[in-house]
Amino acid sequence: MKKPSEIRPAEGKLGVLLPGFGAVATTFVAGVEAARRGLARPIGSLTQMQTIRLGKRTEGRAPLIKDFVPIAQLEDLVFGAWDPIADNGYESAVNSGVLRKEQHLDPIKDFLSGIEPMPAAFDTKYVKKLNGPNVKKAANKRELAEALREDIRRFKKENDCDRLVMVWCGSTEIYVRPSAVHESLEAFEKAMEEDHPDIAPSQLYAYAAIMEGVPYANGAPNLSADFAALEELAKERSVPLCGKDFKTGQTLMKTILAPGFKTRMLGLSGWFSTNILGNRDGEVLDDPESFKTKEVSKLGVLEHILQPDMYPELYGDMYHKVRINYYPPRGDNKEGWDNIDIFGWMGYGMQIKVDFLCRDSILAAPIVLDLALFMDLASRAGLGGIQEWLSFYFKSPQTAPGLYPEHDIFIQHMKLKNTLRWMMGESEITHLGVEYYDD
Ligand SMILES: NC(=O)c1ccc[n+]([C@@H]2O[C@H](COP(=O)([O-])OP(=O)(O)OC[C@H]3O[C@@H](n4cnc5c(N)ncnc54)[C@H](O)[C@@H]3O)[C@@H](O)[C@H]2O)c1
Repeated sequence: MKKPSEIRPAEGKLGVLLPGFGAVATTFVAGVEAARRGLARPIGSLTQMQTIRLGKRTEGRAPLIKDFVPIAQLEDLVFGAWDPIADNGYESAVNSGVLRKEQHLDPIKDFLSGIEPMPAAFDTKYVKKLNGPNVKKAANKRELAEALREDIRRFKKENDCDRLVMVWCGSTEIYVRPSAVHESLEAFEKAMEEDHPDIAPSQLYAYAAIMEGVPYANGAPNLSADFAALEELAKERSVPLCGKDFKTGQTLMKTILAPGFKTRMLGLSGWFSTNILGNRDGEVLDDPESFKTKEVSKLGVLEHILQPDMYPELYGDMYHKVRINYYPPRGDNKEGWDNIDIFGWMGYGMQIKVDFLCRDSILAAPIVLDLALFMDLASRAGLGGIQEWLSFYFKSPQTAPGLYPEHDIFIQHMKLKNTLRWMMGESEITHLGVEYYDD
């Protein structure tokens, strides 16, 4: 990838387009508006709260990321969405049950009610537990994609946007493997015309976004833009692309803990993870075909961090199991249990139990914000195609073909910050530090 020679300034409005206007998307939009009105802080967002060290430790240079790289201001964001359920932003946020109605939703009701989802490209075959009336009708999938492109253009014009980004916050679709229809743009376009079953609605949004020059990030684990046809199209048109599956909750914990065990050369014989959650996402994941998509995304993490091929004595026999159980009383407040069996010196076993009473959408919302701002930055810096430096935000990071993904959150974090330094012409930080001990 070529180092950017200049980065276009973030002038004018940035439209954030959200296919899927449920718990995550409305929590994100409400939080941005609350921050703009000074009612809440954007906690968990690197673009808003984190600093970045520049140069040597002795230089004392550590600006906020938002003061270092030219990202869009929160004031310049406008929001658009699609959803098969016609609820406006306020209704959807109330139904999602994430934010407290009186404290956080009612004060911004005027703003949230003003965002009405556009009719979705939706097919219940791909999300079996859902149905909704707010859907597009077209002769075939290609026409649906063209209708989405029209929506994108209209939204940009009506909202006077300078630039757009799209973050998929829609439900997890059923498991679809990449097939011949995903191998080239020609095959993909033909398959859309023929209504091929391997083309799921999220792929139509991804295609529409890239065709319109709009960066695309996939927050769900389903196949959406992670195949040759769209990866090549994005590269050719210099459109940033990244995914997939926001790294929140239990997997976030896993990618924090597992690198710790490995750095200390502690063995792992088993990791059993189970969850109870009662939101709409939980209901969708109750369908075995949608769960399969999620399971594949969650299981890959340990394998890549622990490298059992390289350390067969420590990780060769590990047993990894992930369960998700739909339990309505919990709503969005998921509980995730982990039982971890590790072993140390001379093979003696130990156990760690983690009980994470988490709030999924509270962890996901800042990820949507950071992805929107960083993807827009990448676009203005002329960085097209897969943005591996944004792996930090994903359970199944998208990488160049043939390259294994980096799952260790600390490596991902260093990669993200070094990419920002590289973009801005600052030296990358290696933590070698021998220069401090020169005479
Ligand atoms: N909350 C988290 O921490 C987290 C973490 C990782 C991934 N995710 C993923 O993010 C996505 C959103 O999660 P959520 O909790 O907001 O779920 P949600 O069920 O509250 O919202 C998803 C919305 O997408 C809509 N939708 C489904 N298909 C669509 C289509 N084709 N076009 C437009 N809209 C469509 C649904 O009607 C629903 O309103 C899910 O796929 C979930 O698996 C969430």
